[in-house]
Amino acid sequence: MKLAQLLFSQGFGARRECEGLIACGHVTIGGKVVDDPFEDVQPEGLIFSVRGQAWPYHEKALLVMNKPAGHECSQKPKHHPSVYSLLPPPLRIREVQTVGRLDEDTTGLLLFTDDGALIHRLTSPKRHVRKVYEVGCKHPLDEEQVRRLLEGVKLVDDPATVKAAAAEPTGERPDGLHGLRLTLTDGKYHQVKRMLAAVSNRVERLHRSGFGELTLPADLAPGGWRWLDGPEAILGPA
Ligand code: URA
Repeated sequence: MKLAQLLFSQGFGARRECEGLIACGHVTIGGKVVDDPFEDVQPEGLIFSVRGQAWPYHEKALLVMNKPAGHECSQKPKHHPSVYSLLPPPLRIREVQTVGRLDEDTTGLLLFTDDGALIHRLTSPKRHVRKVYEVGCKHPLDEEQVRRLLEGVKLVDDPATVKAAAAEPTGERPDGLHGLRLTLTDGKYHQVKRMLAAVSNRVERLHRSGFGELTLPADLAPGGWRWLDGPEAILGPA
């Protein structure tokens, strides 16, 4: 692949801009300036630098972010900054999108990709991909509430019953809330909050810790993100 074409594919601007970046000496490979926009490069496994910042080549972008509170999962946020503002311009130019959405006050594991087929695979209700939530509830959870979450509850304005794949009370938390680890395989709007409301409890804090096979990396700070090697990180080996 020509170097300018590679930069274009990775979100470094219009073709002409990519050619200009290269011709002006802003792009290095293996520590050496490559100033010929039409130099042939092997994309797989390539790490190139633009203005001193290293970028690994990815045919499709797939990332995990530790979503901070106070951010909306929308390109056009209404009341809070967008999670997209936490990504560098090349990823925004590549038009990565969130895989589903988390509420403005929900924290934790949020995936982004520019692979539309993968978004469909990860969010399709037929695929039953597991999402794990650490819930801080206002009231203690009794056996009856847990039983109803597992057997299925009816949400307001929704005729279908929804049930949790797992619901495990985790005891009183340092913040004084009552912990619940809830695993869901579907993804309805405000589902966790609505399910807890349906059993007369209330979600005060919500954090997603798992998506499919992937657990939020413990060393990923709120607002931070990192590349994932491929869908196997979430879906397991093909
Ligand atoms: N369920 C909710 O209620 N909110 C989220 O952000 C995610 C799941």
